Amino acid sequence: MSRWKWSLVPGSWMQGCAFAGLVTGLSVCNSSSEPVHAEAKESKQDDCGSSSANYSHGKQVYTDYSVTGIPGDGRCLFRAVAHGACIRSGKPVPNESLQRELADELRARVADEFVKRREETEWFIEGDFDSYVSQIRKSHVWGGEPELLMASHVLKMPISVYMNDKDSGGLISIAEYGQEYGKENPIRVLYHGFGHYDALHINSKNDSRSRL
Ligand SMILES: *[C@@H]1O[C@H](CO)[C@@H](O)[C@H](O)[C@H]1NC(C)=O
Ligand SMILES: *[C@@H]1O[C@H](CO)[C@@H](O)[C@H](O)[C@H]1NC(C)=O
Ligand SMILES: *[C@@H]1O[C@H](CO)[C@@H](O)[C@H](O)[C@H]1NC(C)=O
Ligand SMILES: *[C@@H]1O[C@H](CO)[C@@H](O)[C@H](O)[C@H]1NC(C)=O
Repeated sequence: MSRWKWSLVPGSWMQGCAFAGLVTGLSVCNSSSEPVHAEAKESKQDDCGSSSANYSHGKQVYTDYSVTGIPGDGRCLFRAVAHGACIRSGKPVPNESLQRELADELRARVADEFVKRREETEWFIEGDFDSYVSQIRKSHVWGGEPELLMASHVLKMPISVYMNDKDSGGLISIAEYGQEYGKENPIRVLYHGFGHYDALHINSKNDSRSRL
């Protein structure tokens, strides 16, 4: 039985995102005008310690990471996850059109997963289950937390969501899904707080060693 991790997350970061987007069908995910930083701050020198020995609000702060900008076309969550899944399984980074294809395929499988798990998902879906699922199948409707959870089941991979922490200037993890599929090297996505997700890679000593 999965744990409903997000219900423990303060509501602030999901305000108006997934649910409002789903209900209204508004595509807030298209933030293409948002400046996308390809290479993020690297504030720590390479020393032996972990690159993230800092905590904010009791959470580990990550400062050594890179962000891959994801087009904001309503598919960003699915694109970011599909991108991460390719990398995690050692496949080449998909180009934009393949990323889009994979995102749409993932979206369809996520919708199917809701149906398959109807009994365990219906209670946290807002509104009518069937119309929710048919909304989610539409390519411009953006996904949120329930879709991340279903995506982790579809891919059988852990997915972690990070967000910028203003106090520390680094990233903190705000949600983790699919931990039953492993905890190492999850698919990482960066949530921008207004419905947009980018793909994220966090550099760690472990990573660089275990990657090759
Ligand atoms: C969002 O995308 C739609 C269609 O792709 C476009 O018409 C609209 O201007 C975009 N909105 C923003 C804020 O970029
Ligand atoms: C994107 O990648 C796919 C698969 O590798 C390839 O078939 C396709 O031609 C590529 N498209 C572009 C525009 O490069
Ligand atoms: C930890 O974060 C604080 C600000 O929140 C910063 O002043 C400090 O330099 C950081 N320490 C390290 C080791 O990065
Ligand atoms: C990462 O490093 C920690 C501490 O050095 C170690 O316990 C852990 O097994 C490492 N994980 C991997 C995947 O190498």
